[in-house]
Amino acid sequence: MKKIILALFAGTALLFLSGCGDKPKAEVVTYKYTPAEVYKATCSHCHGEKGEGMAEKKGPALNKKTLQELEMELFDVKNGGLGQSTATEHEVMEHNMKKLSEKGYTYDIKAMAKYLFDSFNIIK
Ligand code: HEC
Repeated sequence: MKKIILALFAGTALLFLSGCGDKPKAEVVTYKYTPAEVYKATCSHCHGEKGEGMAEKKGPALNKKTLQELEMELFDVKNGGLGQSTATEHEVMEHNMKKLSEKGYTYDIKAMAKYLFDSFNIIK
């Protein structure tokens, strides 16, 4: 009897698992460069090597923000400020974004926020 129940259970589990296959899968995005590489190549010349900011490029410091702030701001930066707003527009970068993405310089928001926070944050 136990065996039958077990078999039934396994069968249900299998059905359940295979059932998931019918749902549209979340798009898997792979990134050509790591956040560190993207930052160095496309962000550091305005925000500083260590996220300390650069007055001459008007790039604000990114090293005194919480992980959540960074995530929200990056969301806005990437979405042209149309998203749930933190009122960051990042106009300087927007017209560049497309070109940069074509070259593979794009990033996952959470991964970039984590990279910025872990590497540069000075108020931990
Ligand atoms: C051409 C210079 C320039 C480059 C390159 C640049 N930024 Fe910026 N960034 C700015 C300026 C200027 C602001 C503030 C004004 C604005 O939002 O337009 C800003 C704002 C930000 C903010 C919001 C900070 C705040 O305090 O509101 C984040 C986060 C940010 N940038 C991340 C990045 C990342 C990540 C990259 C690289 C993918 C990048 N930036 C590349 C100039 C630049």
